[in-house]
Amino acid sequence: MHPNFARLRELYAAQPVILAPMEDVTDVVFRRLCRSLGNEIGMTEFVNVEGLLRGCRNAKRKIRLAEDDTLTAIQIYGADPERLAEAARFAEEAEPLFLDINCGCWVPKICGRGAGAGWLREPAAMVAMAKMVVSSVKIPVTVKTRIGLGPESHMPIVDLARRLEDAGVAALTIHCRTANMGHSGAADWTWAAKAREVVSIPVIVNGDVKSAEDAKRAIDTTGCAGVMVGRRAIEHPWIFREVHALLREGKTVAPPTDEERLDLCRTHLRLNVEERTEPYGVRVTRRHLSGYLSGMRGASALRQQLNTCDSLEGCLAILDTAASTRRTAA
Ligand SMILES: Cc1cc2nc3c(=O)[nH]c(=O)nc-3n(C[C@H](O)[C@H](O)[C@H](O)COP(=O)(O)O)c2cc1C
Repeated sequence: MHPNFARLRELYAAQPVILAPMEDVTDVVFRRLCRSLGNEIGMTEFVNVEGLLRGCRNAKRKIRLAEDDTLTAIQIYGADPERLAEAARFAEEAEPLFLDINCGCWVPKICGRGAGAGWLREPAAMVAMAKMVVSSVKIPVTVKTRIGLGPESHMPIVDLARRLEDAGVAALTIHCRTANMGHSGAADWTWAAKAREVVSIPVIVNGDVKSAEDAKRAIDTTGCAGVMVGRRAIEHPWIFREVHALLREGKTVAPPTDEERLDLCRTHLRLNVEERTEPYGVRVTRRHLSGYLSGMRGASALRQQLNTCDSLEGCLAILDTAASTRRTAA
């Protein structure tokens, strides 16, 4: 058996807080930043299997793992089982910790074509596809899905969890909304609890974990092996250290200081510009900066200045001025 199975078991035994796969977010730079703040298991954004098999540059970039990506999984999506299996073999060569199959994307152009949450229309086909992917690679394969399509009165996830376990899936992440809900409405963690009860593979609960307290509540009420955090990490990646402190040491850590917030802005900008050059590297960082500065005095003026500056040097100067103004005021 591939050593990653044992490694994954160990990681799940320690109640991991997993960084959710997020398109245009969980790239090599953001994964690194989250790791520096306590995230252990990370995931690439989802990668289209057709793009991957055609050798599309963007798809190849997405599966490229850095040396420090030792605990990173690659997520793939597609509608054709054979193509998924073929792409899984290809992605395996990048040496991810495991491969995850996206069966949860609700976006019509993906779900409507049978990929992502489209698999929930035909649970038997989803299970057969997962079995095919599992048997095509040596490393563990996991599935990330939703509780159902919506508006079923009884969600298919419980039966599906059992069948995916039988298909050889190593773990299951449940985004506790239906596909029809998209990202709106509250996630219902009780479905993760129900699914967890019927399988022996680790189940990871996902949806609306926005704080360390949420993470603790999600684990305590569902008995799941770990939690996955998505949107909150975009604006507040410190959530990883906050969850660890609470789950592992029973401690509440102080929120990041202004200095840490400004430092993270600088680091993220620098790393993104190194990776993508200017001005693109600066522009893609903006979606994070607003959240990083949240709660700081003068944050909105600072955001405005940063949002209109396309150069790294200019942004760093704005942040340096903000830092020295704070030091003087202190
Ligand atoms: C910008 C963005 C991009 C996303 N991209 C993906 C993706 O590539 N693969 C995937 O499985 N889910 C994707 N998701 C869904 C998240 O992984 C997660 O399931 C969802 O946001 C719920 O978790 P949260 O409440 O912690 O955000 C994305 C979500 C967001 C907000």
